Amino acid sequence: MPRFPEVAESSVGLSDAVFSRLVARARERGGKVYPLHVGDTYLDPYEGARAEAIRSVDHQRLHNYSPVQGEPALLDAILAHVDRRSGAALDRELVQVVSGATAGIAVVVDSLLSPGDELLLLSPFWPLVRGTTQRRGARAIEVPFWDRLESMGDAAAVEAYLESFVTPRTSAIYVNTPHNPTGHILAARHLDAIASVAERHGLWVISDEVYEELWFDEEPASAWMHPRLRSRSVVVHSVSKAYGLAGARVGFVHGPATAMQAIRGVQTFVTYCAPRPFQLAAAKVLTEGRGWIASTRAHYRELAHRAADALDVPRPPGGTFLFVDTRGRRRDGESAFAFLERCVDRGVLLTPGTASGKDFEDWVRLCFTTLPPDDLHEALARLRQVLDDR
Ligand SMILES: Cc1ncc(COP(=O)(O)O)c(C=O)c1O
Repeated sequence: MPRFPEVAESSVGLSDAVFSRLVARARERGGKVYPLHVGDTYLDPYEGARAEAIRSVDHQRLHNYSPVQGEPALLDAILAHVDRRSGAALDRELVQVVSGATAGIAVVVDSLLSPGDELLLLSPFWPLVRGTTQRRGARAIEVPFWDRLESMGDAAAVEAYLESFVTPRTSAIYVNTPHNPTGHILAARHLDAIASVAERHGLWVISDEVYEELWFDEEPASAWMHPRLRSRSVVVHSVSKAYGLAGARVGFVHGPATAMQAIRGVQTFVTYCAPRPFQLAAAKVLTEGRGWIASTRAHYRELAHRAADALDVPRPPGGTFLFVDTRGRRRDGESAFAFLERCVDRGVLLTPGTASGKDFEDWVRLCFTTLPPDDLHEALARLRQVLDDR
């Protein structure tokens, strides 16, 4: 039991400083820094959803609490959005607005898992999800997955592979597609395998849809709409990524009744409600922002291709990142961290692959939507020099 000055075991080691050593080095260096490690956008959001468009003269009690479940206008917009995107008519009662997907996934993890339970994280993964699991006192089980999608074989082989990570304490599988950091999109055979393992062991599936609008080829079906996943999926969305509203802190969750009852209860005690002005902004973008999304998608696709071509890696099918294997591309004997330092010395900050899983020390992540195109172009040229200077 922790007593002053000790803190809870589950919070020891959690920190906001995933990138701190590299950022400190960049600061010491001075000069212009290209922060490709930040997963955000340089674009302003759809005009009608900007902070200045949501005015207290237009909305009574704009700065008050909203209902815990969410603003009625946003709930309407969510139902229409999910129907359009996924062809699903959700039960309004089973939708919960959350303060962004980060808090939303924390609320989901708190609602579904008890301390000691295990969450399977297909790795590499979004860097925060491991800490989200740890802070619950639950165990994050890293399943190397996304770097071997093609070589894993058919659904039966994928199923057998996943099966080998399941224990009596496994509660859930976390699935994120389109994916941070690889940009990959799961194929039907992967979803079939996940469904079979989840069915066999009675697992929840936490489906992270924050990149649902960011696909660059054919629009993929929503993973949670797989006929054997839907009934056990708790689905988390956000307006941060495709909608350029990361600072708004608005997302939403839907799923089966038992989960949603717990989620609404936990949410009440965590943030109570998401920021009301930005719930109204989210409602606006979901109802009026289709044109903005379509042009943003086309623009991101171009940036994705430009970045991939500049670094000689495959073009990602979605998302906002490239995840690059530096093996064979570093200097002889150079560690992955020394490589990252060499990038910083050229002014370019990248994310270490270990932020996305313990097996990814040799990889680095970069976001191709954070900087305006001219800056991205310059940052890529500098990275190219680092890669060529062997
Ligand atoms: C896969 C994934 N899930 C969730 C989040 C969190 O999103 P939000 O800004 O809504 O908290 C991110 C943010 O980078 C992400 O990449």
